[in-house]
Amino acid sequence: MSEELSIVNGDKEEAYRSLLPQIKALIDGEPDLIANLANITAALKQQFNWLWVGFYLVKEDELVLGPFQGPIACTRIRYGKGVCGTSWEKAETLIVADVEKFPGHIACSSLSRSEIVVPIIKNNKVVAVLDVDSEELKNFDELDKQYLEEVVSWISLV
Ligand code: SME
Repeated sequence: MSEELSIVNGDKEEAYRSLLPQIKALIDGEPDLIANLANITAALKQQFNWLWVGFYLVKEDELVLGPFQGPIACTRIRYGKGVCGTSWEKAETLIVADVEKFPGHIACSSLSRSEIVVPIIKNNKVVAVLDVDSEELKNFDELDKQYLEEVVSWISLV
């Protein structure tokens, strides 16, 4: 494994195309979940410099904060609450162009303006979510959904 991430300054698609194989290489052959989640958040943060990138893990009836990069965040989110809890409930990726317009949005940071939450589904159950926050409005689209869903599909939760 290379010790340095190669960062691309081109458009978003180029950035994902360069980053994804590097993330794959980082986690391939490493069985430890927390180590892999930690490196994925670091790689995404380094490439895109989003405000916050992190995982919440389903533990009983709540999402509990896992590895992340960015400002401190809420530790627990209930099923169906906020963007994360709604993504868990619906078992689908949610793209929120303006967090102020999402009823029940949980503001961990007042700087966050838009957000994408991608569920990690194993055996038809959501086991975790990847949450990304941006300081810019409308920062996420179908391209982010496509690539971030690919990244989380590689995560094995043993
Ligand atoms: N905004 C999220 C809460 C998590 S923080 O953004 C890190 C939500 O509404 O679920």
